[in-house]
Amino acid sequence: MNKIIVANMKMSMTLKEIGYYIKVLNDKLDTDNDVIIAPSFIFLPYFKSDKYLTCAQDVSEYESGPYTGEVSALQLKSINVKYTIVGHSERRNIFHENSAIIHNKIKHCLDNDISPIVCIGEDKKERISMTTEQFLRRDILELLQDFPKEQLENVIIAYEPKWAIGTGITPTPKEIDETIFFIKDIVESAFKVDVKVLYGGSINKENISDFKKLKNVDGFLIGGSSTDIDEFLEIIEQI
Ligand code: PGA
Repeated sequence: MNKIIVANMKMSMTLKEIGYYIKVLNDKLDTDNDVIIAPSFIFLPYFKSDKYLTCAQDVSEYESGPYTGEVSALQLKSINVKYTIVGHSERRNIFHENSAIIHNKIKHCLDNDISPIVCIGEDKKERISMTTEQFLRRDILELLQDFPKEQLENVIIAYEPKWAIGTGITPTPKEIDETIFFIKDIVESAFKVDVKVLYGGSINKENISDFKKLKNVDGFLIGGSSTDIDEFLEIIEQI
């Protein structure tokens, strides 16, 4: 089955570096998987190929208006962006985004036919103070409440335990598969939606073979390893 592979390039690369990356990507990408590229906002229009789709790394919680520095879902739609990452743990921790803000962002995406890739995942503290399951359940119910079923069908969830992001440490394949099964079960019982769920956190060319066959995992959100084009292509090839 095709997997969804998202490159979360974060705040990496300059124009010159991105030019090289795009050239190699456009020349060499050859896969049946669904590849989605999330560069910085300013580089989105440079990624043009029928081999992949583009994704923003964030979107404004506001619809439109005087919000200096913000980018709206409608603006992203106008340049043909089909996906947006929302609620990434870096946005939550560093930029203090809470559930109400993330909920607004999901709403604007859905209203503009953009699929939000909603990131959820526990940190060490939450792991200790409640079970991972309790924490994920609360987050999912808060973030996905009040949307009609037809809209929720466009949501993708990325399970990214915060302690696995950029650390080189991952849960075991079994833990990932079980947690993603659990996430799907919550969404199915609460909203009657069969949601796609990705795993993200320290995926690289060495460990992808451990995770690529997991039954419940619909794909991967790849940070650091996606910014090296050779490594990214190698990961895709292995999947
Ligand atoms: P990582 O990041 O692959 O560098 O751990 C994943 C993410 O932040 O989405």
